[in-house]
Amino acid sequence: MSNSILTKKILHWYDNNKRVLPWRKKISQIKKEYYTLVSEFMLQQTQVVTVIPYFNNFTKDIPNMSSLAKINEGKLLKYWEGLGYYSRVKNLKKAAQVLEKNFKGRLPHTIDELKSLPGIGNYTANAIMAIAFNKPFIPLDGNIERVIKRLLNLKTIKEVSKENLIRQKKILGTSVRSGDYAQALMELGALVCKPKNPLCARCPLMKNCKSFKNNDFKILKKYKKRIDKFYSIEVYKKNNKYLLIKNTKFNFLKNLQIFPMKEIPRLQNLEHTLNFQISNMNMNVIVKFTKIKGIIPNSSWIDSLKLNNYTLPTFTKKIFRYLNKYK
Ligand code: ADE
Repeated sequence: MSNSILTKKILHWYDNNKRVLPWRKKISQIKKEYYTLVSEFMLQQTQVVTVIPYFNNFTKDIPNMSSLAKINEGKLLKYWEGLGYYSRVKNLKKAAQVLEKNFKGRLPHTIDELKSLPGIGNYTANAIMAIAFNKPFIPLDGNIERVIKRLLNLKTIKEVSKENLIRQKKILGTSVRSGDYAQALMELGALVCKPKNPLCARCPLMKNCKSFKNNDFKILKKYKKRIDKFYSIEVYKKNNKYLLIKNTKFNFLKNLQIFPMKEIPRLQNLEHTLNFQISNMNMNVIVKFTKIKGIIPNSSWIDSLKLNNYTLPTFTKKIFRYLNKYK
């Protein structure tokens, strides 16, 4: 089967099944570039359904590159609160500043220039080339990787390596509708070629799919082991208020408000620990109430009954929830 037939089948399926998403609206080129930039940063580590309300809220109040380049960081963080991976939004603002200064507020047209911007790696650069500029690039996100692995029934570690997937993506061909095609492939992975229980009866590639032929849908993933880490959180309480500090110490949740904490040696008994998955860490946390000794730099008292008045990472909010419930 020539890949142009494959491409046609995928686009035909997309035209009949695509989700209506706010960054897919018909808009001017300048807006398309801005919407693609914002949506792709949000979608880097977050699923489409979660991103939609954040994207709408963000673009309503920060409607273009120049407003993004100028916005105060505290205000900006409020629009990202709950999305996690906050370095993304800081890089997004830095990218907007570079674009304002060097590119008249527009996106550059080459992969290399795009990759020179803060927060833009290979994946996002490819997505922007396809979606914002309709150029024949296919970004390899988890969804598209899965479609390729299933279509070709790639099974061994060597077969699913990034280098091999980049080589094999040629089987997908290209389209003059490059932006739609990239999104069609992501959509097929997200809606039909799901990690578990793929909906093969609805798949336009069923007859071409080696996994379907072999009735073998298991996906071999790159094994990402989370590192176990242990922390002790110090809770200072005054009436309804708790003391938080600005985090300048740890590489995760940088410059955000957290409870004072320190890393501790591995605990044997995990019965009383809270558990969080942050970055590549499996974080085990014990909570200790403490009395204030001296001045704690960069600290502020936060009213636990008025949490909505503050910009706090989900990690900190979860600890507040735990304290409100159990202490
Ligand atoms: N994931 C990353 N970019 C996307 C897009 N434009 N549409 C749907 N899912 C995506």
